[in-house]
Amino acid sequence: MADFMSTLTFAVLPGDYIGPEVMTEALRVLAHVARKENITLSYEIADVGGAGIDNHGKALPDSTLELCRKSDAILFGSVGGPKWEKLPPKEQPERAALLPLRKAFSLFANIRPGLLYKDLVDASPLKAERIPNGIDIVCIRELTGGIYFGQPKTTITLPNGEEQAVDTMIYKTSEIERIAEVAAVTARARGKRVCSVDKANVLETSVLWRKTVIAYFAKHHPDLALTHMYVDNAAMQLARDPNQFDVLFTENMFGDILSDEMAVICGSLGMMSSASLGVGSNRHGKPFGLYEPAGGTAPDIAGKGIANPCAQILSAALMLRYSFGLDALATRIEAAVRKTVAVDGVRTGDIAFGRPTVGTIAMADAIIRNL
Ligand code: IPM
Ligand code: MG
Repeated sequence: MADFMSTLTFAVLPGDYIGPEVMTEALRVLAHVARKENITLSYEIADVGGAGIDNHGKALPDSTLELCRKSDAILFGSVGGPKWEKLPPKEQPERAALLPLRKAFSLFANIRPGLLYKDLVDASPLKAERIPNGIDIVCIRELTGGIYFGQPKTTITLPNGEEQAVDTMIYKTSEIERIAEVAAVTARARGKRVCSVDKANVLETSVLWRKTVIAYFAKHHPDLALTHMYVDNAAMQLARDPNQFDVLFTENMFGDILSDEMAVICGSLGMMSSASLGVGSNRHGKPFGLYEPAGGTAPDIAGKGIANPCAQILSAALMLRYSFGLDALATRIEAAVRKTVAVDGVRTGDIAFGRPTVGTIAMADAIIRNL
């Protein structure tokens, strides 16, 4: 490998509360595999979210954005929490950091694996007999369109003095097609089944979504099994029999909601990783991406050393796979996490079922031993 290709340049944005705690462990895991594989990690750490507000007056400081622009990927922690909840909604860390990052790097494809190891089915709120082999599905969510970004998006005061707010849901064919391609590629590497979720019985955007998806798959992926489901039914089916899905594929807001449901049926938020991929290629010929755990900042357990680092570590694995093309290394990290949690039974409190629990650092140590 050329020197450049064996150097991984990424921005590290730990964020708030448990963000920095679990990020430290993910970086330790990366350092371990890098040492073994003669890979050089080249990263800088920068403030984002509440830390950005406190230290630079902005949830997404210019210097942080600049660092991201120089990088080939972003390893993101999590942002927000009670300390900043009194700020106006538009200035809150989640909205003022994550959404602009998604827009700035056109991170249109959000990939959220919904994975529950067979040995951990008791951690799911679903009855074990519904998921005898655990859960293995993936949600592909469109991330830069729809009602999150459509204009107009305002609140006005009407002549009679009452307020009126509007959000706009917009989709163009090209936006639907590019995310359909991600769903298809994902399904091709798995069970070859895509369920496209919409609300085509009510929404114009969903009518276009369904029409476009049908035409796109017919033309480019006729061999994949494509089905369609209304979002209300999909929410119900997820709770009834999640493994009926292989790839769940949907627009921005439906994906936001369904992926949280998916996270809870998979037992522990502390295990949920995600990748958000952009358009075009980075210097490794792969998509630029932002990689983050799905669980949030968990202010209630911050500073106690008990947060589950797995989601952050698994997000780092996704970064190796998607933005640096290091699929085998990613798989090795995923296998080490699985062995640690499911076979060795080394778990943090969120997935302990009353067994002895370990802290954040001991958990990462155990994963590193299994690498
Ligand atoms: C997510 C989050 C974000 C979203 C919030 C924090 C803006 O819920 O990544 O799912 O709604 O997209
Ligand atoms: Mg969400």
